[in-house]
Amino acid sequence: MEALNAIRTPVAIVESAGGPRAVLLDAAGRLTPEAARQELLAVLPAIYPEWLGDRGFTIANGVKFPYVIGEMARGIATARMTVEGVRAGVMAFFGSAGLDLGSIEDGIREIQVALGPETGGWGANLIHNLHDDRLELATVDLFLRLGVRCVSASAFMRLQPAIVLYAAKGLRRGADGRVVRAGRIFAKVSRDEVARQFLSPAPEPMLRALVAEGRLTAEEADLASRIPVAEDLTAEADSGGHTDNRPMTVLLPRLIGLRDAIAAEYNYQVVPRVGAAGGLGTPGAVAAAFATGAAYVVTGSINQSAVESGLSIDARNLLASAESTDVTMAPAADMFEMGVKVQVLKRGTMFAQRGHRLADFYRRYESFEEAPPSEVHKLETTVLGRSVDAIWADTESHFAKNDAQQLERARADAKHRMALVFRWYLFMGSQWARQGLTERRTDYQIWCGPAMGAFNEWVRGSFLEPVGARTVRQIALNLLEGAATVTRAGQLRAAGVATPTSAFDFRPRSLDWKAR
Ligand SMILES: Cc1cc2nc3c(=O)[nH]c(=O)nc-3n(C[C@H](O)[C@H](O)[C@H](O)COP(=O)(O)O)c2cc1C
Repeated sequence: MEALNAIRTPVAIVESAGGPRAVLLDAAGRLTPEAARQELLAVLPAIYPEWLGDRGFTIANGVKFPYVIGEMARGIATARMTVEGVRAGVMAFFGSAGLDLGSIEDGIREIQVALGPETGGWGANLIHNLHDDRLELATVDLFLRLGVRCVSASAFMRLQPAIVLYAAKGLRRGADGRVVRAGRIFAKVSRDEVARQFLSPAPEPMLRALVAEGRLTAEEADLASRIPVAEDLTAEADSGGHTDNRPMTVLLPRLIGLRDAIAAEYNYQVVPRVGAAGGLGTPGAVAAAFATGAAYVVTGSINQSAVESGLSIDARNLLASAESTDVTMAPAADMFEMGVKVQVLKRGTMFAQRGHRLADFYRRYESFEEAPPSEVHKLETTVLGRSVDAIWADTESHFAKNDAQQLERARADAKHRMALVFRWYLFMGSQWARQGLTERRTDYQIWCGPAMGAFNEWVRGSFLEPVGARTVRQIALNLLEGAATVTRAGQLRAAGVATPTSAFDFRPRSLDWKAR
């Protein structure tokens, strides 16, 4: 059994009466005298968790492991989570989406102070803003001013000037003639047509316009036309939050194939890497992603239950009791009118059912005035928890300060007013979960994918079961160590060694890494 779980030692496979058998080599790398009498079939080298993915990923990002802590909006992936991730040897993205520019700046500065200005391995999130593309440019200006060297771009359906600006700004030729990037984009995608745009060079018209505006030099634009917009592309399968619910085993090979075709077409010197996100909460899932060719893996939902998460302890406890089937789709606050959905926790909260009732009401009626008063009253008492008038008063004062156009639209269009009232509820659901407002527990909106339940099941009975012990460091190191163990078990099984199921069962343990 020892030989079946040894990952940092070479293992020999020798012929024996019962078929191929795994034996540990001794400290000098020799077979024991007994094993040496048998026919040597193969020697498996040591496996290191740091080598499970693409070595180019760890080198380019200055991290030890091919593992990323994904951004979680509105600061749920806190500055502290980002810092602890980098200290654990993994890459981490600060959850800057949905925060105002001042809070984004505070978070980034906190990370820079904690890690020192030269430390890489982290980034922030640029999320597509459907309602206001000026905010994207302002966010990129802030990233450039603060010297953020990695940006994860998400929710984009089409490339926008802000992304192209960030990808091209500071491009230069190195001494060896290669194009050197100042800032690098991680693109998060779940569709071919979006992936294609990030894997191709930036569109010429967009580059020309940025040069004309004085935002890029002609040389930067020229270099940008020779390299892909993103060097790292994350295939986002069925995940917490916004998701197309696509199976990893379908999406990842598809995007790897697309990457290969595009890299050949443009003859890239640096071939973009494709990583995997969505559904990763156990060693087996992480090992499967690497076995399918993922250059790196990204976790999300499970880190939300960690001590560094920006979510309240009350909501984290709900997450820790979830099973993998305790998730469902609910209307998204930001794209409610378009029918866009997000994956959320089902157990312990009624948010999804209530959100669907709002969506039904929105489909059925053109305005609150048109709906029967009894229906409005039912909505107020059983879903919203407040009167429509009280919510509208808050909504009005919010938009008067932040976006007066919304109010003009609502005055002219009663259905838009209804959408803004419903968006208040959907937005507040995540606010209450972050604050831990227990009287609103049944309205908590907690983005969560099936990985959370799978993780809970895996850590049950181990030191990682209590939420107070779940650090992003222990989560990452255990998943990586476990994935290496599962990988070793798979190698042995494929080599004909009778491998008990226990060889695939890595139990969480307190881990630390030492420099190799
Ligand atoms: C609470 C939460 C918030 C998230 N916020 C964002 C976000 O703002 N931007 C983004 O690109 N991805 C966001 N994600 C997706 C994660 O970064 C990650 O890609 C995804 O969670 C991985 O799938 P998993 O949830 O199955 O682990 C979020 C995920 C969760 C659970």
